[in-house]
Amino acid sequence: MLRTHTCGELNKEHIGQTVSLCGWVAKIRDHGGGKFIDLRDRYGITQIVIDSTSPAAAMESVQPVRPEWVIKVVGEVKTRPAGQDNPKIVTGEIELHVTQLEVLNPCVTPPFVPNQKDLPNEDLRLKHRYLDLRRESMQETLVLRSRIIKAMRDYSAKHDFIDVETPILGRSTPEGARDYLVPSRVHNGQFYALPQSPQIYKQIMMVAGYDRYVQVARCFRDEDLRADRQPEFTQLDMEMSFVDSDDVIGIIDGMMQELAKDILGIDVQLPLPRITYDDAMTRFGHDAPDMRFGVEIIDLTDIAKKTDFRVFRSVADSGNFVRAIVAPGGQAKYSRRGIDELTKFVQENFGAKGLAWFRVEEDGTLNSTIAKNFETSELAEIASKTEAKPGDLVLIIADTWETSCKALYALRKRIGIDLELYDPKEMHFSWVVEFPMFEHDAEGDRWNAMHHPFTAPLESDLELLKTDPSKTRAQAYDLIINGYEAGGGTIRIHDSGVQQQVFGLLGLDEQSAQERFGFLLDALKYGAPPHGGIALGIDRVVMLFGGLENIRDCIAFPKTQKATDMMTEAPNIVEATQLTELGIELAQKDDDE
Ligand code: AMO
Repeated sequence: MLRTHTCGELNKEHIGQTVSLCGWVAKIRDHGGGKFIDLRDRYGITQIVIDSTSPAAAMESVQPVRPEWVIKVVGEVKTRPAGQDNPKIVTGEIELHVTQLEVLNPCVTPPFVPNQKDLPNEDLRLKHRYLDLRRESMQETLVLRSRIIKAMRDYSAKHDFIDVETPILGRSTPEGARDYLVPSRVHNGQFYALPQSPQIYKQIMMVAGYDRYVQVARCFRDEDLRADRQPEFTQLDMEMSFVDSDDVIGIIDGMMQELAKDILGIDVQLPLPRITYDDAMTRFGHDAPDMRFGVEIIDLTDIAKKTDFRVFRSVADSGNFVRAIVAPGGQAKYSRRGIDELTKFVQENFGAKGLAWFRVEEDGTLNSTIAKNFETSELAEIASKTEAKPGDLVLIIADTWETSCKALYALRKRIGIDLELYDPKEMHFSWVVEFPMFEHDAEGDRWNAMHHPFTAPLESDLELLKTDPSKTRAQAYDLIINGYEAGGGTIRIHDSGVQQQVFGLLGLDEQSAQERFGFLLDALKYGAPPHGGIALGIDRVVMLFGGLENIRDCIAFPKTQKATDMMTEAPNIVEATQLTELGIELAQKDDDE
């Protein structure tokens, strides 16, 4: 047996016992003819002592040992000398006095050590991920991830969900991102697509009568990466038969309540609050608002229509919007230079034309460089509508609906952080529901499905599919945690007439729909139950439960912002023979490209 205990286990009860431990050398300290080693494994750290009372052989074996070497020690558990206790750790009252020390494996000089104070840059950490993963916080996150997934699986099993695996090599799925393609050797010129989600398979499981499906599913999307996006990520994917939106939402409500209690010890009241998409855009400028704090958007367009201030008036008269948020106590934080920075921020990032502002004086009146353009009564009306108080700063964007949403959403987020308007440890769960069915594509001349083409419209909006598709709302719901979209799903269409209508609006004629999703459309003809589902982004849930800011810190082997794996150096160039087998010839790149 290599070890009798782990490094996080021994305490006063083991005093007098002879034990063996294995682990990594976290720290070595020379101490008057002896050495102290902090021996580390996944479970903790134990203090190891080698001194003049230790056998000569042990003294000799320890000489070459350096940080991150792997060693085995045998010895007696003793109380630490008075005053040397460390009450912060389980093993803090004991130390191991070594009788034998064996080097199991040395370590070349590492580019960084897991317990160093300053975190090395991320590229270096990702390149030597095995060292980075030794860090305590990384280990805590991966343990957290494992616990969250187990709790999700336990909850699903308790509610009769059956865990089913679906193919990775398959056909293109309809989530709207670019596919990762895998060339076929057997069928040269043909490609599998890695699943963007198991959407179609899980719907087919419902047609097959499995009633409740769940999978911890790997999804692949070739899209622009952000702090909360990876090209390869994991969903808790679920589908249910004979359900409406409330049923699906109810299942996830219960899951979030259990997770919050089990993982964080937080009590969450159910039902989780719900707001409509329209409400979210009007009040927060975004479909995944952070509702840990207020600062809602206030519409001043009506007042703007009455003023002589040209900038506001012309925007309002042209059908656009004048909208504001109030930074509570913002004057103390944002000097004129601070406001200039905010202005630059919205101009450069969101194409806003500018940022108008007012300070609220002690007597409640509004003051600003633009104040002279307004009647006193108009200023009073703005102050009253925004409910701004002395010391507050009113920030106003006069622009199109889209630009004002984007700019005010980003300003609100920034203000929330700058003015510390919420407790970063708080968890806020909510739902955004009733999304539009369609959005215009970038060129604005076609409809795209906001979720995916199988999403059912609200029963009450069926008529709008014919008369005004832009106003049709979907039976869609997103789970929002602290301003992040943590999950999303829909009730699916199970009526072929409605499905044809939706395909029509998406510009998919019968033949192209048949080509892309024929197998699903066929399956739906064979007795499909009404069904719907949801997928939670597990990486994002872990990030939020762990209070982390980057999704890469929640994944053992993540990709960089440029979708590369620094450690294995994937993607890489492959042998010419492999390409030949696949029937692939690489296009010559121009030298000056
Ligand atoms: P959707 O595309 O909304 O829905 O994805 C569900 C959830 O997955 C997470 N997510 C991501 N996480 C990390 N990196 C990414 N690139 C990424 N993309 C999405 C988000 C998101 O809310 N098949 C449907 C679900 C359904 O309708 O049942 C789907 O995939 O947290």
